[in-house]
Amino acid sequence: MDYEGKKPIIEMKNIVKTFPGVVALNNMTIDLYEGEIHCIVGENGAGKSTLMKILAGAYTPDSGEIFIDNKVYKGMTAALSRDLGINIIYQENLLVPAMNVVENIFVGQEISKGGFVDKAQMFKRARELCESLGIELNLNQTIENLSVSEQQFVKILKALSTNPRILIMDEPTSMFNVEDANRVLNLVKRVASNGVSILYISHYLKEIVQIADRITVIRDGMPINTYYNPDKNIDLDIIVRDMVGRPVDMFYEKESHDIGDVIFQVEKLKLDKDSPEVSFDVRKGEILGIAGMVGSGRTEIANAIVGACKKYSGTIKYKGKELNINKPSDSIRYGIAYITEDRQRLGLMLEANIIENLTIVGFHTKIKGFFVNVKKHFVLVSDIINNLKIKMASPFQAVKNLSGGNQQKVVLGKWLFSDSSLFIFDEPTRGIDVNAKAEFYKIMSNLTKEGKSIILISSDMPELISMSDRIAVLRKGRIVKILEKDEISENSIIRYALEVKEDVSDQKVG
Ligand SMILES: Nc1ncnc2c1ncn2[C@@H]1O[C@H](COP(=O)(O)OP(=O)(O)OP(=O)(O)O)[C@@H](O)[C@H]1O
Ligand SMILES: [Mg+2]
Repeated sequence: MDYEGKKPIIEMKNIVKTFPGVVALNNMTIDLYEGEIHCIVGENGAGKSTLMKILAGAYTPDSGEIFIDNKVYKGMTAALSRDLGINIIYQENLLVPAMNVVENIFVGQEISKGGFVDKAQMFKRARELCESLGIELNLNQTIENLSVSEQQFVKILKALSTNPRILIMDEPTSMFNVEDANRVLNLVKRVASNGVSILYISHYLKEIVQIADRITVIRDGMPINTYYNPDKNIDLDIIVRDMVGRPVDMFYEKESHDIGDVIFQVEKLKLDKDSPEVSFDVRKGEILGIAGMVGSGRTEIANAIVGACKKYSGTIKYKGKELNINKPSDSIRYGIAYITEDRQRLGLMLEANIIENLTIVGFHTKIKGFFVNVKKHFVLVSDIINNLKIKMASPFQAVKNLSGGNQQKVVLGKWLFSDSSLFIFDEPTRGIDVNAKAEFYKIMSNLTKEGKSIILISSDMPELISMSDRIAVLRKGRIVKILEKDEISENSIIRYALEVKEDVSDQKVG
């Protein structure tokens, strides 16, 4: 990217935005050049999404100015923003669950012919978009029947279908594994090279380094620094220090402690008649990692264990006793907590406040007696809020008004508040900033020290490797290998997950 002699096409100057009890943006200034990938980073609640929503016309700033092509806009509206060629992929999922992929892509901008909606044309266009991304999607499928990553692809296709001049991407890859994330990163680079300007938000700092022309760090609603990244090798420590306000160790070293006897067993689990049998056990105080490519069946197995989907056969035992689990509430009763990967849909009551969300599962186990002791309640809840660093105006704030990452923390917190003995975490740190991630690793570590057991499903290799005591590698629904602590490496995981015989240490995914 050559900035020589170029003028920004967007300048946001001195933007202030407050919500009741929060200053989300405090004199924020940022600009964007043609064909540039400008990445915005900052902790959960720093103000990234709010800034983007102002540019998209979804929020009105209290003060400040927006210049687009050197023309000043005081009142930006969603329609005006769209007319100016701005399109935003929101962090939230705003797709219509009961409509199919094509309908979602073209809702509000249907292609018509002779006064009628031209379905064939929309299908054709949708198929072309899929091809440009290199993904396969069943275009007739309704959104509610797609996985979270497929839904994310639909959001991206929807934005691209408008041929935007300026594309805002708020955490576009947080639902993805490495392979799919790389697809998106390649797409972003391709789109930018065609002259589209991109504002890109992500907590995956490694991907930011790969694609950013410039990186702006935001803290507490203010710009801290903007860095140029011409050689795609900027030092991440500097970025993290700017984000948090002090240096942070990005690689958490897990303390070792004694691991007890087998406490939880899955025996000959089959999801359906023809699927392979899965057996494994988890010991007291152990973190068992589960690795595997997309479609390897990680989430399906977790769902079957907790009764979220039917299993064909097999037993699940706790302390040698068979558990009778037919629905998720059964597993909660047995002390199994399952933190799903689809947190926005399954994990939160968006209209309810933070306290209500945090205590919904733990209520019966922590608070004894008929009457609720509000004060005691509050103390327990505030521990969790502090430990996870949930950024909020008050604990009585509706969860829907929290930033994306802080909503995720509430879901985690809700299960930490429960008195479970086994925690199944499915991609627990997606959308969570580096600092809160490190805090969460400490919490996981403390849980195991208290003798709780954890099953950790994660596509984040450093996380999986540093946190797991053993790792079960899945391929096509089958456990192909259980790696002991001293056998765990990225190389060994990939080798078993992909069934490659030779050493793949020099090979990079994507
Ligand atoms: N609609 C709203 N009502 C009240 N407060 C809000 C609203 N939207 C955002 N906030 C608050 O504004 C602040 C900034 O939120 P924002 O969503 O911009 O953060 P973010 O940088 O995108 O964080 P994340 O990384 O978690 O997505 C937060 O304190 C958040 O709680
Ligand atoms: Mg956000």
